Amino acid sequence: MEKRTLGRTSLPVTPLCVGTSALGSFPEQYGYAVGTDVAVATIRRTFAGPINFIDTSNEYGHGGDSERRIGIAIREAGGLPPGFVLATKVDPLPGSSDFSGDRVRRSVEESLERLGLERLQIVYLHDPEKMTFEAGMASGGAVEAMVKMRDEGVIAHLGVAGGPIDLMLRYLSTDLFDSIISHNRYTLVDQSAEPLIETCMARDVGFVNAAPYGGGMLVKGPDAVPRYCYAPASAATLTRVRAMEALCKAHDVPLAAAALQFSTRDARVASTIVGMSTPARLDETLALLDHPIDETLWAELRPFIEPGRSGVI
Ligand SMILES: NC(=O)c1ccc[n+]([C@@H]2O[C@H](COP(=O)([O-])OP(=O)(O)OC[C@H]3O[C@@H](n4cnc5c(N)ncnc54)[C@H](OP(=O)(O)O)[C@@H]3O)[C@@H](O)[C@H]2O)c1
Repeated sequence: MEKRTLGRTSLPVTPLCVGTSALGSFPEQYGYAVGTDVAVATIRRTFAGPINFIDTSNEYGHGGDSERRIGIAIREAGGLPPGFVLATKVDPLPGSSDFSGDRVRRSVEESLERLGLERLQIVYLHDPEKMTFEAGMASGGAVEAMVKMRDEGVIAHLGVAGGPIDLMLRYLSTDLFDSIISHNRYTLVDQSAEPLIETCMARDVGFVNAAPYGGGMLVKGPDAVPRYCYAPASAATLTRVRAMEALCKAHDVPLAAAALQFSTRDARVASTIVGMSTPARLDETLALLDHPIDETLWAELRPFIEPGRSGVI
């Protein structure tokens, strides 16, 4: 698979990234459990396949099971296979609002231990909307701790991963971050990340787009999943998505292929993170990536995509 450069990190990454929040097993969110065997098999399959980029977080799964299971596969492989890029994120303790510098340092130590690594390639400040920008940037705060760990050589590159675009832009303006993850805001439904993407390009910061299916609606369909970005979708959104689904069907294209390629075909998006729950999802995703879509369908979809420019309606 062709690789793209993740902004000024210079890391070559595939346009697809394996999202591992489900692999930690989180039935409260996903409605099903994922066993250790399935999770480890999914990472094993990733290591054997064309995608070189994996996204996790300290908090995915109960008590860090996403990282722990990725760590099992890494140890089995004798280390992270050459050429692979693994990103994780710093989080407060589950159930706590402690996003202090001390907690962030502990979060990184936990990640290193679970993953069985001595240093981390990319660490994102995860969901910074959990605190104010001022608290995040304060002396003794989360960002200061991350910068120190980067200067100590424990972390190679820093990033921010979150939702609200204005807040992401404020963190970007500090010039401390080499990569950004935005989620659910650059899809067929919502393109409100546009100013963030443009600022990333201007600063040579890698833009990574998570949740191209809006958390499931754009792959399983609006009737099966009438939710967008983990919340009930509005009637207007459901109408738009049903119209896009019908257009795709008329061209014999799965809605999911259009949803995925909307992100991957944009050269500004270094990589697109798709949530994977089984090894089979990897093969399905690769097939959706390769599904032919002609320009006529994109032109027909455009009037239904455009209302999402300023956010979901
Ligand atoms: N703040 C952040 O940093 C942040 C926020 C959101 C997401 N992320 C990252 O992005 C990743 C993806 O986000 P997401 O999982 O919320 O959203 P998503 O990728 O838009 O959607 C995932 C959903 O799509 C379904 N799906 C995926 N491939 C499928 C296929 N081939 N056929 C049928 N269904 C399929 C999955 O179903 P099944 O569950 O049935 O497999 C899952 O419910 C996360 O794992 C995480 O790594 C980061």
